[in-house]
Amino acid sequence: MSTGVHTVAVIGAGKIGELMLSGLLRSGWPADRLLATARRPARAEELATRYGVRVVDNPTAVDEADVLAVSVKPQDAAALLDEIGPKVPTGKLVISLCAGLPSSFFSRRLPEGTPVVRVMTNTPALVDQAMTAISAGAHATGEHLALAEEMFKPLGATIRVPESQQDAVTALSGSGPAYFYLLVEAMTDAGILLGLPRQVAHDLIVQTAIGSAVMLRDSGEHPVKLREAVTSPAGTTISAVRELENHGVRAALLAALEAARDRARELAAQAE
Ligand SMILES: NC(=O)c1ccc[n+]([C@@H]2O[C@H](COP(=O)([O-])OP(=O)(O)OC[C@H]3O[C@@H](n4cnc5c(N)ncnc54)[C@H](OP(=O)(O)O)[C@@H]3O)[C@@H](O)[C@H]2O)c1
Repeated sequence: MSTGVHTVAVIGAGKIGELMLSGLLRSGWPADRLLATARRPARAEELATRYGVRVVDNPTAVDEADVLAVSVKPQDAAALLDEIGPKVPTGKLVISLCAGLPSSFFSRRLPEGTPVVRVMTNTPALVDQAMTAISAGAHATGEHLALAEEMFKPLGATIRVPESQQDAVTALSGSGPAYFYLLVEAMTDAGILLGLPRQVAHDLIVQTAIGSAVMLRDSGEHPVKLREAVTSPAGTTISAVRELENHGVRAALLAALEAARDRARELAAQAE
């Protein structure tokens, strides 16, 4: 690939595509090096107004961009690739943000030799706290992975994983924010049950979640150690922990993540 700032086209700029566009702009990526495509004219208008980027049709994006970041739903990917696949000049980097779809799904529909990188990011990209896992697909070199990292690093943390781990990543960190939101929602309800006003319960648990997350990240301690520090003998926390174990919360999480991983596989099968 050529050096210098690459032109990136976000193909199918919905929720995740928009996160990527806004993150790249926040990181200083020049707006004139960003393109977006959308299916509905109203959406195209919205993106152009909000971000000052050019919203073009898919063939124009393929012609003009060096990097094509595909962020359509998995079930729309085959139709999109039927449209643009044969027109992608060899050497352009295709980055897939689609859950479940293996890079081979793209390679089979792109000219031989097209480098493909598979990426799984998550919605905290909106506040530059994403977790993005990056994998090399066919023909992707270290340079292509480094370029993908350059694009996603400003949105949070990045990690390289073998592509065989991407469905697990999807289940864990791709969907992960939803599990934490569900927990916060349930704990807020619990606070209300115990007589706290909703807003107070919400503020208490949100700050507790932030504090716990920063401790997990910055203390270097194992989560068990951190939990033990809050769990005194015959104290209040252990009574709560016993209830969590009685209700199978740990087993529920294991099963939930397996279900998410299986759904990623199913989406890939349905997309074929
Ligand atoms: N949401 C998440 O938390 C998350 C996390 C990680 C990964 N992902 C992955 O990110 C991808 C996008 O998810 P999303 O939640 O952002 O979905 P989304 O909001 O529906 O965005 C997809 C966008 O692509 C547009 N589109 C579909 N076909 C098109 C085509 N042929 N040409 C141009 N635009 C087209 C859609 O248009 P319409 O508006 O007309 O439908 C929509 O705006 C999915 O593959 C998902 O697996 C999502």
